Parts: sequence; structure tokens; C-alpha cells
Amino acid sequence: MPPRILIVDDEVEMGNFFKFLLGSKGYEVLVAESGKRARELWQQPCHLVLLDLKLPDADGLALLREIKMLQPRCEALVMTGYSTVKSAVEAIQLGAFDYLEKPFEDLEALEAIIERALNRAMASGELVAQEDDTRKGVMERLGFVTGPSERIQRLLIIAEKLARKHITLLLRGETGTGKEVLARFIHAVSPRASQPFLAINCGALPENLLESELFGHEKGAFTGATGLHKGIFELAHKGTLFLDEVGDASLAIQVKLLRVLESGEVVRVGGEKPVRVDTRVLAATNAPLEQLVKERRFREDLFYRLDVVTLTLPPLRERREDICLLAEHFLSGHYPQGQAPRLGRDVCAALTGYDWPGNVRELANVMAQVAALSDGAATVLPEHLPLKLADRIETAGADTPDQYWLGEINACLEAMASQVDVATGFELPRFLDELKKGMSHSVRHLIDRALEEAGGQYPLAAERFRTTPRVLRYLHDEKQV
Ligand SMILES: Nc1ncnc2c1ncn2[C@@H]1O[C@H](COP(=O)(O)OP(=O)(O)OP(=O)(O)O)[C@@H](O)[C@H]1O
Ligand SMILES: [Mg+2]
Repeated sequence: MPPRILIVDDEVEMGNFFKFLLGSKGYEVLVAESGKRARELWQQPCHLVLLDLKLPDADGLALLREIKMLQPRCEALVMTGYSTVKSAVEAIQLGAFDYLEKPFEDLEALEAIIERALNRAMASGELVAQEDDTRKGVMERLGFVTGPSERIQRLLIIAEKLARKHITLLLRGETGTGKEVLARFIHAVSPRASQPFLAINCGALPENLLESELFGHEKGAFTGATGLHKGIFELAHKGTLFLDEVGDASLAIQVKLLRVLESGEVVRVGGEKPVRVDTRVLAATNAPLEQLVKERRFREDLFYRLDVVTLTLPPLRERREDICLLAEHFLSGHYPQGQAPRLGRDVCAALTGYDWPGNVRELANVMAQVAALSDGAATVLPEHLPLKLADRIETAGADTPDQYWLGEINACLEAMASQVDVATGFELPRFLDELKKGMSHSVRHLIDRALEEAGGQYPLAAERFRTTPRVLRYLHDEKQV
């Protein structure tokens, strides 16, 4: 069956255009000129929907939700006018593959994006594998680690999609949550990856110095300006500029930043002629910008200019499932490959239970201390932890022996299950049989040891196992568990 593509757009010419463009490639193209018609047409399966967000009879985002619910494997590309980038981003958050800005200026780019979406929908393309490899490669190179936390996974998918766009992004999150790592990731997966990534901290320099660092200065602009100096906006031309701590910029600098973002031109200090720059800006802050706007310490117009798309990194305490994985990653950085000690279960529990006000940065620092304290040990133990965490061990260590061993057993079984090569296949029923035999054997062994300890007396051994002698004898002799 050729890929089936549904175009939902009330402009008749749009439908004709896609019929021609995609029909000539052998795709089956259906056109709906209203939301109502779209609902009828997507009763049959489609691979791709091109959806105009503005329809006379339906809300585009609501339609998108419907199609993703009815046909989760069908990819959606939403089409918008330039002024509605915000809803386009919302569409991506709802699961759209990407958005297309109308009018289409670059047909090749349009075709490429449709191909990519189709590849993804048919889950067969080499491109899909290539994209996954590129992402993994970039993350490895940057030392950017993510765990099972769904929030981070979703954030990454969206960040990667937005990376390809020439739009300003605002990265928010508490201190140490990884805003800068995320910015580097976005640059590295963007079409600008081979161009410079430059960063400047707006809070670290006095105002006049910051101005000249950002926008540059002409020779003689001020005492000491002995030559022309290009600012970071110009130096990052064609690349990415990371404007860190943007909430700390003075009001005077904010006006100038707004001008550059709006016009795409910088004027060097002491200069008059604007210089065109093609610099992609990623701004970051952990400041409460809304509050600063209320207090008139941050310009509202700049806030809205930056806030078109905001990516918020969750604090570590809201993605606790990632903590042990990140901890192991940081620990392994202090050892030759494969030689880092493992984290004991109670240590992992203590790390997970702590609130990490300094987020990932604090965790990295703690693991550096742990590496120093546990040097030579095969397993990190509670005594290798800094005091603030060692204190938590008392609660974590309050596990009863039963809870402790149940945890260990589960961990063992999970580790085993994750190592089984499911691709080559193995006999599950036989595996279960063996598992049961193994369990009976272990239980008998356990009972034998307890009996030996108890001088062969079943009642005493039973008491230790918190069961009755009858049950113990049954478990021992019947070879059943
Ligand atoms: N997902 C991650 N994988 C690996 N390292 C990370 C990750 N997130 C953060 N880090 C590390 O944590 C530290 C803090 O990260 P980063 O500088 O990006 O935080 P930030 O949000 O910019 O903090 P601040 O607001 O204080 O500037 C860095 O050393 C960074 O390498
Ligand atoms: Mg930072």
C-alpha cells in the first residue's frame, strides 16, 4: 500500500498543491477542506496528516489531539502562519512531528521534512536510525546523560525538534538543572552544529563591559578602545549564542538585546552602521522573570520576545528515577573505564531520597567526594557519603531484613531479565521451570542453615523464619515454594 497522506486545509489551492507535489511521488493524497471532513476521512488509516491549525469549523490543536489518539502511529505536521509559532510549539508538545511555516519558501526543505515524517510513521527508514544514532552520539560527546524520567525524555524530543528551527528559545530551571548542557545539545543537533557555539553570562560583567562584549565596539568608541572589536553576537554569526543569566542584564542592555532580536542587526558601541547577524539565541535564566517584570526590573517586551518557546528543566527531586543512573555516570568519570565501584542499594536509596537543592551540579560534586572517599572499594558504602547524605542512611537503612533481601532479590531478577537476549529467543516455560527449581533449592539451603544454627530443632528455626514448624517442614521436604 502506498503511504496515505491526508491534507487538512480550507484553502483549496493548498490541497491542489499537495496533491500535485505528493501525488507525483506515488503517494495517495486525500484532501479535507474542513475539520468535519477530516474526521470522516481519518476513519481510514493514514501515515501522515498535514494539518492547518486555523480552520473555520474546528480548532486545529483539538483535531491534532483526536488524530493522535485515534491513530497514534500516524505522524502529523502542522501548518501555521509565522505569527503563530507558539501554537505550533504547543502542537509539537501534543505529539506533532513538526510544524511548517506558510507560505512555503523552500520546497526542498518541505519535501525533506515530509520524507522524514513518513519514515518515522512507517518505522522503517534508515533516516530514523541515523537520527537516533546522531542524537546518541551527540549526547555521549557532551556527557549529557538522561535516565528513565519521562519528563526529560519528552523535553529532549521537543528540544531536538525545535533545534532545527531558527527561533529563540528560553531555557528555564533551577540552578544546576542542566540549562547549559541542554543549550549545547540543541546547538549540536541543529543545522548550525558546525558553526560556533558561544556563551556569555549576562550577570558576570559590569554593564559597559557587557555591552561591548555583546555588541562590539568601534575604534575610539571609548578610552582604551584602540581597535575595532567584534561583539559576541557577530562572532557567533551563523552559529548559536547562549545568553546565560539573561535575567541579570540591566534594563539598558535589555533594550539593546530586544532590538537585536527583533531586527537581526547589531550596532557596535560608538558605531552607527548596523551589522546584520544571523545568530541563533538561546537564553537561560533561573530568575523568576514574571516577578521581575512586575517589579519593572525586566522589560515586558523582552520577556515576551524570549518566552515564545520556553523549555523548563525539572529539578532533580522531580525526576528521582534518574538519580542513581546520573550518580553512576559521574562516579565512573573518576575511574578508568569499567573500574568504578558500584553503588550499594542503601547508598542509592539515600541519594534518591535527598532533595538536591543544587540539582545535578550538586550530585556531580557529591560523586567527586564519594570517589575520593571510596577509592579502592568495590562498592560504595554509606560511610563514603558526605554527612548530609549519610544522615539519610538511618532512614534508608531502617529497612527490615525482609525488605532488604526482597529488594536484593528483585534487583537480581531484574538484572538477569534485562540481560536475556530476547532477539534470539529462548524457551520461556523452561526458563520458568529452572527458576522454580533454583528457588526450591535456595529455600532448602536456607532452611538447612537455619536448622543447623538451631541444633536441628524445627520449632526454633521456624520462630526465626516467623512461620510454623509445619510450614517449614513442608517447604523443606516437599521441595516446593
Ligand atoms: N543531564 C546531565 N547529564 C550530565 N551532566 C549534567 C546533566 N545536567 C547537568 N549536568 C552537569 O551539572 C552541572 C550543572 O549543569 P549546567 O551548568 O548546565 O546547569 P545550569 O542549569 O546552567 O545551572 P545554573 O543555573 O547554576 O547556571 C554541569 O557540570 C553539567 O555538566
Ligand atoms: Mg548555567
